[in-house]
Amino acid sequence: MTEERFLTGSLTGDDAEVDRSLRPRSLGEFPGQERVKENLSIAVQAAKQRGDALDHLLLYGPPGLGKTTLANIVAQEMEVAIRTTSGPAIERPGDLAAILTNLKQHDILFIDEIHRLNRSVEEILYPAMEDFALDLVIGKGPGARSVRLAMPKFTLIGATTRYAMISAPLRDRFGSVYRLDYYDAATLAAIVVRSAGILGVPLPEDAAWEIARRSRGTPRIANRILRRVRDYAEVRGGGVITLDSARAALRLLDVDELGLDETDRMVLRAIVEKFGGGPVGLETIAASISEESDTIMDVYEPFLLQLGFLQRTPRGRIATAAAYAHLGIPVPARSPAAEPQRGLWEAQDQG
Ligand SMILES: Nc1ncnc2c1ncn2[C@@H]1O[C@H](COP(=O)(O)OP(=O)(O)O)[C@@H](O)[C@H]1O
Ligand SMILES: [Mg+2]
Repeated sequence: MTEERFLTGSLTGDDAEVDRSLRPRSLGEFPGQERVKENLSIAVQAAKQRGDALDHLLLYGPPGLGKTTLANIVAQEMEVAIRTTSGPAIERPGDLAAILTNLKQHDILFIDEIHRLNRSVEEILYPAMEDFALDLVIGKGPGARSVRLAMPKFTLIGATTRYAMISAPLRDRFGSVYRLDYYDAATLAAIVVRSAGILGVPLPEDAAWEIARRSRGTPRIANRILRRVRDYAEVRGGGVITLDSARAALRLLDVDELGLDETDRMVLRAIVEKFGGGPVGLETIAASISEESDTIMDVYEPFLLQLGFLQRTPRGRIATAAAYAHLGIPVPARSPAAEPQRGLWEAQDQG
């Protein structure tokens, strides 16, 4: 297993700085997510023409696809200030009230991981989003009374990896909701070429495509791989990135042909080898490989589903015939993968 946690590790020092420098700053600089961009650009233009704040906006999808980047771009295009916080950082209703009262007319409040807001905090948001009002309780006990304070019209942008965990009343208060999808290889290739340009490293087209194909549809991962490929080339490749040095670096990182890393393969192997191909619950899989179930749900599972290696059924996850093939293990006659029809039927049943 590699030291670096490619998918889930947080960026530190240099990497975090490079990451910021690679962030697109306008919709025009942001490749991919065409439908989302078009909608956003219309919404931004309309709001600006009316001299109004943008409607509240919810962005969801797997990590590293550009939610935070888009929130910042929207602020840039609206020419307003953006204040950034996250669900778990806001502990008490008073914390949120303090943030809200400090917003100026048409400012953007960006709440990352908005599914992790606690209930009492969330309740402050409802009137703020709907009526631009703060309901505060003053005093305690029988003398307590509620006062309503007006606040400037602002825009809430929420981001989440877990759309299903957003409560209905919160969800209903967003004027627009967009899902970000995994990027195709051509778009990722364009993204790493752009990044290489910013970093000042020549990147041949075949190497760019190799990185793109093995980045699990995710710009953040493509950029990380690019940096490690550059390191490899500097130390072992005489400073020149080639297709061969890119492949060698990816091998060292344990990233396989499809972009799966050791943890992806452990998830698949656990289902196949320990649980007869499933169905098995996600918590059980997580425990069997000593991984956080949240991490599997946010980071690993969505891409394995997208590849068609996993299916969700009401009774748990099953490994598909494609997963067996990728692991090089023959499909046993009695595993769910041997009965794809049933798997599909169950997956649909779940809705
Ligand atoms: N469409 C894109 N084009 C170029 N780079 C992107 C794009 N989307 C994301 N990135 C890069 O990936 C990194 C992660 O994006 P981010 O917005 O933080 O993702 P999220 O908030 O969805 O986890 C950013 O630093 C940025 O450099
Ligand atoms: Mg983010």
